[in-house]
Formats: sequence, structure tokens, C-alpha cells
Amino acid sequence: MLKGLLFDLDGVLTDSAKYHLAAWNQLATSLQIKLPPAANEQLRGRSRMDSLNLVLAYGDQQDHFTQAQKVALATRKNQLYQQLIQKMTAADILPGISNLLADAKAAGLKMVIASASQNAPTILTQLGILDQFDGIVDPATLKHGKPDPEIYVRAQQQAHLAANEVVAFEDAVVGVAAIKAAGQFAVGIGDALALHRADYVVPSTAALRLDKIKQAFNAKQE
Ligand code: G6P
Ligand code: MG
Repeated sequence: MLKGLLFDLDGVLTDSAKYHLAAWNQLATSLQIKLPPAANEQLRGRSRMDSLNLVLAYGDQQDHFTQAQKVALATRKNQLYQQLIQKMTAADILPGISNLLADAKAAGLKMVIASASQNAPTILTQLGILDQFDGIVDPATLKHGKPDPEIYVRAQQQAHLAANEVVAFEDAVVGVAAIKAAGQFAVGIGDALALHRADYVVPSTAALRLDKIKQAFNAKQE
């Protein structure tokens, strides 16, 4: 029986994925690296350091920096990102999300955030929806980034639920992989081909309906 929803944040509840990409582009440009169009998909869901390593690899610069220098680069990216997100408000909640959260609350479902972003509490506060969630996994306490299942297993534990009692929402290929590795039901938001490992895919958040998701979830349990 469905008892809980686990949510990625960036690209699921709000379109902050575009700000992550813009900040990485600014950092890359300052290093004379040009990110290919594929970076838009490949950077989604990856931890800050994994993302930095990917950006440096695009420019064949992965061995050009010490660990301390990499930390400084990641900090610079985060400062650029924080400038971009500071004007976010409730108007930036993606279409369909407010209804989904309200329906889930009315159905008594537990809701936990499973975002790799250390900026998640800030963004949820700016969107005005922080208090709608029963928990947020602290990414600073994780050993592995997505596609490792660790963050989704932790989110499920914070909800005090079993893998077959939750549905998890993702826009990233590595995120869907993490959900499936955790043995949970994955809802992919975006390109059906890229997110083919998800159990249920919608082209955008506007198409999310709790009753339809429940139907697909129940069909899979039978
Ligand atoms: C999410 C985003 C990634 C981002 C990661 C870390 O997973 O999808 O693009 O790199 O969080 O975010 P942070 O805000 O801590 O740098
Ligand atoms: Mg995401």
C-alpha cells in the first residue's frame, strides 16, 4: 500500500536545475571549458563534487587541480548558484506540484526530500513549502551520491516506511537509477527515452496526478 512520497528537489519541485547548469557554465567558461549540450542531462542529480569533476573532465582538466583547489572551485560555483536562486519565490513552484502535495497530505502520505543539494532547505523556505515535508535527508551525511541508492534508502527510513510503500520522483537519469537500486517505485519527470528505467514517466510536472500514480503503483504490486 502506498504510504509515502520521496522527492528530489531540483527539476522536480522547482526548476532550479537551470540555475545549477547556468552556474556550472559560468565556472566552466572561466576555466576555458565549453560544456556540451549533453551536460544539461549529465549534470542533473549529481553531487557538487561529482558535478565539478564532470565539468573538469569535459575540458580534460580533471588532473589540473589539487583537492583544495577543487573545493575552492566548487565553492565558487555555489556562490554563483546562490546569487541565482536568491530571488526564488512560491511562483517558482512547478505546475502540478502544489496540487500533488495537497492531495498527498489529504491522503495522509508521508513526504520526505531526497535531494543531493545542500541548498535544499533554503530553496524550500523560499518556495514556502518547507513545513509540508516530514523530513529532509541531510546530503552532508551521505557516503555516496546518486546513482547510489543511499539517499533514497535514507529518505524511506526517515519516513519509517518499507521500499514497497513509497513512490519517488526524479528528473535525473542517475536519480531514477538510485530509486530503482533502492527497490522503490520511480516516477520520472522528463524525456521518456532518457528516463526509461522509471516505472511511470510524465513529460512534465503538470501531468502529475496522485490518483494516476497510485493506479500505476498498485498495478506494479500485483
Ligand atoms: C542536486 C542537483 C545537482 C546538484 C546537487 C548538489 O542533486 O540536481 O545539480 O549538483 O544537488 O547541489 P548543491 O546545491 O549542494 O551544490
Ligand atoms: Mg533533480
